[in-house]
Amino acid sequence: MTATEPRRVSPRIAPSILAADFARLADEAARVEAGGADLLHVDVMDGRFVPNITVGPLVVSALRRTTRLPLEVHLMIQDPDRYLEAFVEAGAATLIVHAEVLPHLHRTLHEIRRLGARAGVALNPSTPLSAVAEVLADLDHLLVMSVNPGFSGQTFIPHTLPKLRSARALLEAGGCAAPVEVDGGVSTTNARALVEAGASMLVAGSAIFGNADPAAAVRALRSAAGEAR
Ligand code: DX5
Ligand code: ZN
Repeated sequence: MTATEPRRVSPRIAPSILAADFARLADEAARVEAGGADLLHVDVMDGRFVPNITVGPLVVSALRRTTRLPLEVHLMIQDPDRYLEAFVEAGAATLIVHAEVLPHLHRTLHEIRRLGARAGVALNPSTPLSAVAEVLADLDHLLVMSVNPGFSGQTFIPHTLPKLRSARALLEAGGCAAPVEVDGGVSTTNARALVEAGASMLVAGSAIFGNADPAAAVRALRSAAGEAR
């Protein structure tokens, strides 16, 4: 690579177990691990912040015992502060909280780090990036939602592409090395464009677990993301 060539980026792939078979979670985790997934994304929903209800710390703890992959827990719940410790104790390496429910985001991010986990913030499609502008020093992950959270299998919202570019620019301008992660409607069709727009982590549910061979689907997503420039 010469000095004039653009930087090549290989994104991390995070299968979302929301689209997995919950009766066979250990097998599903093993499959994506075999396919080279970098981590597991666990969607926690409370039926209040989002319409759906999923899992809590017990399932995170069960997953922790069955896979070597780091667990990233995406908290789509109304009152995340109440449960941070329980999820870290259950084995979450990263906790991602939604800015929309946290008037004291700075305090929450500090608490996550104090508990020993990496601190991430998720932004709904309608939430501006300015929601994290004052906490860049406290941020280990920025998750840009590309669907309205609640369900897997939804259609990617195209406005996410310019938002990813702006997110990358905001973080770079603020000296923040946090990866930009995109979640919702990610597939082999849009993976390369997402990475080129600035995403360095791709969360995918149905594109991986909706496939008869989730290990092959992880490899296909990585290959589609390619060596974006
Ligand atoms: C949506 C969740 C996602 C979901 C993505 O609320 O946060 O992680 O599992 O699923 P797909 O990739 O099917 O859109
Ligand atoms: Zn998610």
